[in-house]
Amino acid sequence: MSFDEIRSLDSRYIFQTYTRQPIALESGSGVVLRDVDGNEYIDCVAGIASCNLGHCHPRVVEAIQKQAERLMHVTNLYYTEVQATLGEKITRLSGMDRVFFCNSGTEAVEAALKLARRTTGKKDFIAARGSFHGRTLGALSITDKDNTPFEPLIRNVSFVQYNESEEIERAIGEDTAAVVLEPVQGEGGVNVPAREYLREVREICDERDVLLILDEVQTAFGRTGEWFGHQHSGVTPDIMTLAKSIANGFPMGAMLATGRAADGFERGDHASTFGGNPLACAAAHATIDTIREEDLVAASRRKGRYFLESLRSLSLDFIDLRGIGLMIGMEFEGGCGGIVEDARKGGVLLNCTSERVLRFVPPLIITREEIDRVVRVLGG
Ligand SMILES: Cc1ncc(COP(=O)(O)O)c(C=O)c1O
Repeated sequence: MSFDEIRSLDSRYIFQTYTRQPIALESGSGVVLRDVDGNEYIDCVAGIASCNLGHCHPRVVEAIQKQAERLMHVTNLYYTEVQATLGEKITRLSGMDRVFFCNSGTEAVEAALKLARRTTGKKDFIAARGSFHGRTLGALSITDKDNTPFEPLIRNVSFVQYNESEEIERAIGEDTAAVVLEPVQGEGGVNVPAREYLREVREICDERDVLLILDEVQTAFGRTGEWFGHQHSGVTPDIMTLAKSIANGFPMGAMLATGRAADGFERGDHASTFGGNPLACAAAHATIDTIREEDLVAASRRKGRYFLESLRSLSLDFIDLRGIGLMIGMEFEGGCGGIVEDARKGGVLLNCTSERVLRFVPPLIITREEIDRVVRVLGG
């Protein structure tokens, strides 16, 4: 099918909620994507920080194929080995005590909010300006956006300045259940806080008996140069949310908890038909094993530094360049849609977040040569 035919079907039958780039993608391998017209692109979007091992990684493909031949879906009325062993793997990896599997980031956040209320018996949340936690009503309530058309949302959510721990101290009240933060704000513009920030927030939460929820949907699995973004600060959250790269692009989410929060739910408090589905679990096993065996967390740190330095040498009129691991943002005074378009025409996929921040979140397997090519294309 041609691009025009695909676009015309989309505009006729699909809800027009997305602003899409004018290409239709057909296949991918490693860091490279191909469109229906045969054009190739170096992918610095990676399904928005999801395909950390690149596209169609052979180990993930094989794990899904093998699992599909054995068992695809049974619901959580039954036990499966593939889910139980993934539970062990992911809790050991993260140092958390228990996990609830779901299907997306927003669902993981919903589970976290419910767990915080159930554990503490309190109702209120503190979130950060510039935050993004998802599109369902609970997650939207803690997302810093004009949500007026969807009100009423969860009441009593206080928004504080990101990277300012004293504001959290002041915002905590009698009925505060939890503080919810991203270790690095992704959609908000790749905002990297000071290393002490999460340490200070952790201390405040401990002193005031408030839970700390860290939303690692975008920052986990090596993206920032540690397995989880919060490890840069040496803190442990009470509750953590994961999705995106957990199964290298196969839809999956997870909510993990430790301490009293790990015992916060009773039977029947939460559920998901597809959560922890055998196919997703098999993909997640293969993803985690491959990241570990190929040492891609250290690679993210190394390549991220190289990418950042290479971008710094460009004579583009950006006002800020920041990043951690392979999560990099280049901020402009005005919109960066034109740069995204020019880059695409030059064979590089990028995206613009918060309207004026060019975001680079390529697969962690990107090579130096591919980074050089991206920088050359941006240099014009
Ligand atoms: C930090 C964070 N939390 C939650 C979400 C929502 O994830 P999903 O789109 O899978 O619902 C996102 C998506 O970008 C995110 O970046």
